[in-house]
Amino acid sequence: MKRSSLLSWLITTLVAGVSTLTIGEINGDRFLSPYNGQDVSNVTGIVTAKGPDGLWVRSVRKGCDRRVSDAVYIYGPALSKNASISTGDVIVLSGTVSEYRSNKDYLYMTEITSPKVAAILEHGKEVAPKVIGKDTYSPPTVHYTSLDEGDVFAVPNNNSLVSVVNPVLEPEKYGLDFWESLSGQLVTLKSPRAIGRPNQYGDTWVVTADSEELISVLDSNPEGIVIGSPLDGSKNPTDTKLGDTLEDITGVVYQAFGFYRMLPLTKITVLSSQEPVLPPPTSLASDGICSGLTIGSYNIENFWPGDTAHVQAVAQHIVEYLKNPDLVFLQEVQDDNGETNDGTRGHRIQLHLRRARQQQRRRRPGGNIRTAYLFRRDVLALRDPNAADSTTANEVLPGGSLKYNPGLIDPSNAAFANSRKPLAAAWQTLDGNDTFYTVNVHWGSKGGSSSIHGDARPPVNGGVEDRIAQAEVTADFIAAILAEDPEAHIISSGDFNEYPFVKPITDFESRSQMEDLDVVAGIDALERYSYLYDMNTQELDHMFVSPALAKTKPQFEHIHVNTWIAYDDMVSDHDPSVAKMNLCKY
Ligand SMILES: *[C@@H]1O[C@H](CO)[C@@H](O)[C@H](O)[C@H]1NC(C)=O
Ligand SMILES: *[C@@H]1O[C@H](CO)[C@@H](O)[C@H](O)[C@H]1NC(C)=O
Ligand SMILES: *[C@@H]1O[C@H](CO)[C@@H](O)[C@H](O)[C@H]1NC(C)=O
Ligand SMILES: *[C@@H]1O[C@H](CO)[C@@H](O)[C@H](O)[C@H]1NC(C)=O
Repeated sequence: MKRSSLLSWLITTLVAGVSTLTIGEINGDRFLSPYNGQDVSNVTGIVTAKGPDGLWVRSVRKGCDRRVSDAVYIYGPALSKNASISTGDVIVLSGTVSEYRSNKDYLYMTEITSPKVAAILEHGKEVAPKVIGKDTYSPPTVHYTSLDEGDVFAVPNNNSLVSVVNPVLEPEKYGLDFWESLSGQLVTLKSPRAIGRPNQYGDTWVVTADSEELISVLDSNPEGIVIGSPLDGSKNPTDTKLGDTLEDITGVVYQAFGFYRMLPLTKITVLSSQEPVLPPPTSLASDGICSGLTIGSYNIENFWPGDTAHVQAVAQHIVEYLKNPDLVFLQEVQDDNGETNDGTRGHRIQLHLRRARQQQRRRRPGGNIRTAYLFRRDVLALRDPNAADSTTANEVLPGGSLKYNPGLIDPSNAAFANSRKPLAAAWQTLDGNDTFYTVNVHWGSKGGSSSIHGDARPPVNGGVEDRIAQAEVTADFIAAILAEDPEAHIISSGDFNEYPFVKPITDFESRSQMEDLDVVAGIDALERYSYLYDMNTQELDHMFVSPALAKTKPQFEHIHVNTWIAYDDMVSDHDPSVAKMNLCKY
C-alpha cells in the first residue's frame, strides 16, 4: 500500500469508523451485533417500510446465510418523516450500530441510530416480502432456544441470559433464533390464525395455519408471533377471538415490550370466526344420588355481591353452562364490601362457610379473595360441621376424619404468606351418608414471570418456589387422609396457577397420590385449557381425584365459556370445569 493511500485509508477509517459493511455483516449470525456501539458509513439498502420513528432497509443483494438477517431497523424520527425518502428507494447512510431494549429483562434489537442519508441511488425498486415458511425456514414449533436445554418450564429457571451467552443462531431449530434471523425483515405470514385475544392496543397473537399446535401449551408455541401496531397508523381490531382466521399479514419483524413481533403495514383483518361462538353447556347432569354427582370448579375473578351484573353472569354460567353442580369449588370470592378496604371480611351471599374467613392475599386491595364452596342442600351436607377460624389449622384425625369442618390447611405456614390458604372439608351425601373430602386450592400467582421471549432462560416462572412449597403442604394434608383411609374419596380442585407438567403440580401429584382428572377421564390434549395468556391457551385450573375415585371412571369437561369470546364479553379470566363421579363409598 502506498503511503498516500494508506493515509487516506487511515483517515477514512478514523473519520467514519467501520465503513462499507453489509447489513448482514452488521447483524452477524448471533443475537448481538459484532459492531455494537460502532459507527458505520456507506451502508446501502432498499427502504422496505417506514414507521413513525424510523424505517427498515434491506440489502440490495440478497444474503446467502439464512442465519443472518440482511435487513435492519434505522431509528430516526426525522428520517422517517422525511417525505423525500420513500419505500423502494435505495439509500446510502451512516450511523451508529446499537443494541436497544427498553427493559433489562427483554432481548435486545439491533438497530442503526443517528442515521444520516448520504445518497439516494435509485427510486422505485420493488420490495417483495419474504414469505414465512417459503423464503425462510418454517418457524420451529417446539423449542425457543438451546439455552432452555429442552424444557422452557424447567425449575430452577433463569440459569443463563441470551444477552450474555449470545449463541450462534439456529433458526431451523429454535423459535427465538428464527425470529432473530428475520429481525428487520419485511415478511408475509400466510393464512394466520389468532391464538389468543388482543390486548387493549389490539396486539394479537397469531400462528401460521399449518401449525399443528393451535391451542396446546405442551410445547408452548414458539411459532406464535404477536402482531403489533400497524405502521400506517390504522388500528388492529380489539375483538379478535381465539381461532379466528385472518387475512395474510405483511409487516416487519421487530422486538418490543419483551416479544418478537410483526409490525404490519396495515391493520389485520378477520376473515372468519370459529362456530359456534360459545361452547355448548356441559353434557354432565347430576343424578342427585351418590352414584352420579356433579362437581364444578370456577375462579370467578374478584367476585363480590355489590357487582350485581357480575354476580348474575356468574350465576348464569353456573346454572346454564355447569347445569347446577351439586358442589362447586369457587375461587376469588371477595368480602362483602368488595375492594373497599375497611376491615370487612364477611360475605352476605350464602356460601355456607362464612366462618372460614381468611387473612387473604389482597390481590385487589381490601378484596380478600378466598376460596369457598357452593353446594346443594338437597343433595349434600357438611359432615359434622365444625368450622375453624381463619388462623386455626385443620387436622386429620385417626380414621381420616377432619378435626375442623371446614378448616384451612396450615394457614400460618410461611408457604401461604400473602396467598390463599387451601380449604379442606368433609361431606356426606344425603341419599346414603357417603363421605368424601374436598380441598379447594388457589395457589400463588405467576406475577413476576419474565417473557417467554425474554433474556432469562428458561424464563422466570414467577412465584414457582412459593407454589412448590404450597404443593408440599397441600399434598401432605391429603396424603395424611389417605394414610388413614387409602380408599378415601378425595377431590382437590381450583386455580393451582401452574401447568400440569411443571414442578409444583408434578410434586403435588407424587406426594399426594392424587390423579389428574384430565388424564383419568382421557381429556383430549387440545382441550386441556382454562386460560389464555399471550400465545398460549393454558391450564392453570385442575381437578385431582384420589386413587379410589379414579377407579370409578369419573367424567370431566372444561367449559370454554370465557376463553372463546372477546375481552368485553368475559365473565371471568378463567374457564370453569365440571366433573361427574360416583361418590358412593362402598
Ligand atoms: C460504498 O459502498 C459501495 C458499494 O455499495 C462501494 O462501491 C464504495 O467503494 C463504498 N465507498 C466507500 C467510501 O467505502
Ligand atoms: C431529506 O432527505 C434528503 C435526502 O437525503 C435530504 O437532502 C434532505 O435534507 C432531508 N430533509 C430533511 C428535512 O432532513
Ligand atoms: C436473571 O438472573 C440475572 C443474574 O444472572 C439477573 O440479573 C436478572 O435480573 C434475572 N432476571 C429476572 C427476570 O429475574
Ligand atoms: C344418615 O346418617 C344419619 C345420622 O347422621 C342417620 O340418621 C340417617 O338414617 C342416615 N341415613 C342413611 C340413608 O343412611
